[in-house]
Amino acid sequence: MNGPAGQTTHGGTGAARRAAVAVVIFVGLAALLFWLAPRDLYLWIKALHVIAVIAWMAGMLYLPRLFVYHAEVPVGSPQSETFKVMERRLLRAIINPAMVVSWVLGLWLAWTGFGLTGGWLHAKILLVLLLSGVHGYLSRAVRLFAEDRNARLPRHWRIVNEVPTLLMIVIVILVIVKPF
Ligand code: HEM
Repeated sequence: MNGPAGQTTHGGTGAARRAAVAVVIFVGLAALLFWLAPRDLYLWIKALHVIAVIAWMAGMLYLPRLFVYHAEVPVGSPQSETFKVMERRLLRAIINPAMVVSWVLGLWLAWTGFGLTGGWLHAKILLVLLLSGVHGYLSRAVRLFAEDRNARLPRHWRIVNEVPTLLMIVIVILVIVKPF
């Protein structure tokens, strides 16, 4: 597992393998559900959608927090190298696959349940597109940090940290309350 900043990390390959196994199990479960096609398939897929969204959001809230700490330590320090590993693994093993699964299952729900209609749904999709844009911005930042080229102060990453939170709050209200 990854240790805190400054400690040597062990078991990184094991963590990546466990994450890959989790993704395979998740996709396999979804495929099995489509194959079995139970009467409440919609609800099963919705449950998987919410699980994927939780994983995506957990990563999107944690990654900028790692950047705050990373931006505070000197370039080339052991802590900085540890943060690089943590950021890369979080992005590749959790955030990227969780985003893909959230989108695929979310679009299936939107098509099957609502024929892609509804003001709340269009607003939700728009905000999720924005969230995906933030995802792209954070991916780019992982690359810049990995190349020791981050020019942003910790304060910038503290502010960025709030954006996914605000988007998530509005998205959840839209999909549950469906106000319009
Ligand atoms: C990636 C694009 C997404 C699409 C196309 C999408 C679409 C949908 C649709 C159509 C439903 C079913 C609503 C219903 O049956 O009433 C749903 C459920 C849900 N979605 Fe998404 N969604 C996406 C991403 C997200 C994100 C990013 C979040 C949270 C940040 C989220 C949170 C939820 C929640 C909590 C539910 C369950 C709502 C309920 O059962 O009342 N979704 N989504």
